[in-house]
Amino acid sequence: MQLSESFKNFNIESIKNVESNMHTTKVVNAFKSYFGDKPDHLVKAPGRVNLIGEHTDYNNGFVFPCAIEFYTYVGISRREDLCVEIIALDLNDQDTFSLEEHLTPHPTKTWVNYIKGVINELTKLGKNLSGFNLVICGDIPQGAGLSSSASLEVAVAKAISKLHSYKLNRIKLAQIAQAAENNFVGCNCGIMDQLISACGIRDNAIAIDCNSYTLTKVTFPKDLAIMIVDSSVKRGLVESEYNLRREQCEQVADYFSVKSLRQVPLDVFNSEKARINPTLVKRAQHVLEENQRVLAMIGALNIHDLPSISRLMAESHQSLKTLFEVTVPEVDYLVKIISEELGSECGVRMTGGGFGGCIVVILPQSRVDALIPIIKDKYKQEMGLDASIYLSTPAQGVKALF
Ligand code: GLA
Repeated sequence: MQLSESFKNFNIESIKNVESNMHTTKVVNAFKSYFGDKPDHLVKAPGRVNLIGEHTDYNNGFVFPCAIEFYTYVGISRREDLCVEIIALDLNDQDTFSLEEHLTPHPTKTWVNYIKGVINELTKLGKNLSGFNLVICGDIPQGAGLSSSASLEVAVAKAISKLHSYKLNRIKLAQIAQAAENNFVGCNCGIMDQLISACGIRDNAIAIDCNSYTLTKVTFPKDLAIMIVDSSVKRGLVESEYNLRREQCEQVADYFSVKSLRQVPLDVFNSEKARINPTLVKRAQHVLEENQRVLAMIGALNIHDLPSISRLMAESHQSLKTLFEVTVPEVDYLVKIISEELGSECGVRMTGGGFGGCIVVILPQSRVDALIPIIKDKYKQEMGLDASIYLSTPAQGVKALF
């Protein structure tokens, strides 16, 4: 048993190495064929899964994500002119623009806007960018809520910094990436996704205080697995009600005359809530209680307390369903199948912004193989949809491969 488990882990790891080499080769070859030479630098930035602490980051609260072994790869080389030429391999698309022009969002090629947004933020910081070529590819499932866009922003910010020898630390890279999304793409997302893509640590989940940007690593137990199940209900943050949820939280902070919900103690909120609009009460209650669940979860993961992990994740999901109202029936059903199957032997909840996307499961490694066909069969039977299942150990944040 012991032997076969470590053999299995070895296999997953070697597959990930092969994939990384494969993507590196893909970018290098594409660079040679489009631009005549290999890139000057190649960067990879991971996606993420959030274990608990949802919709708390933009309320300056606590989150507890880890980076995953799925990445966006960006190759970059300098040009002599002030043009930027980008090849998006997976989309079979490309774009060119000049840094001499005032950058405006592209109306249809939305993927370009994440890159233009990063350039825009670097320019605001007074950086004089030279022209450059980019080739991009990756293996983070798109539109599944695993932060493919945040990883693109972080990878591009890192690649441009590397090309120009800018000394930007990981938190600064994340802030540039988040600002790109807020100011250029138009999604008022918090800092979680960009921060974990920049600062992930292999084999660790990272507890983040989004008020002070304090990051605390918590070793993820080797005998537990992180399973991600994609409902295949595609989500779109900008089109969704994400920005509305954020505004609602800010209205409650305004009511208490504080900067963010983080400054509102739960007991003060409880004694005042009868005087606040009931929808706003639901939103704020989720956030304030979710913050407490994150703190409890850090303790539970530290001591491998699976029953507590299970309870906290179940409460988080329920709260996102009934108070924050960001789940969909397909995602609720996936959570139901898994909690009926494993009970307190696993933690399961929706992960990310909601309105479709993925659930995350923390379960004993030994239960993984048997669970996969059960999820796939029951989900197909009830919802008529195919669930994609991914396994990952916590990954390292953004990295320049050369
Ligand atoms: C999206 C946003 C994050 C965070 C989550 C919800 O992933 O990008 O900033 O708000 O939703 O927790």
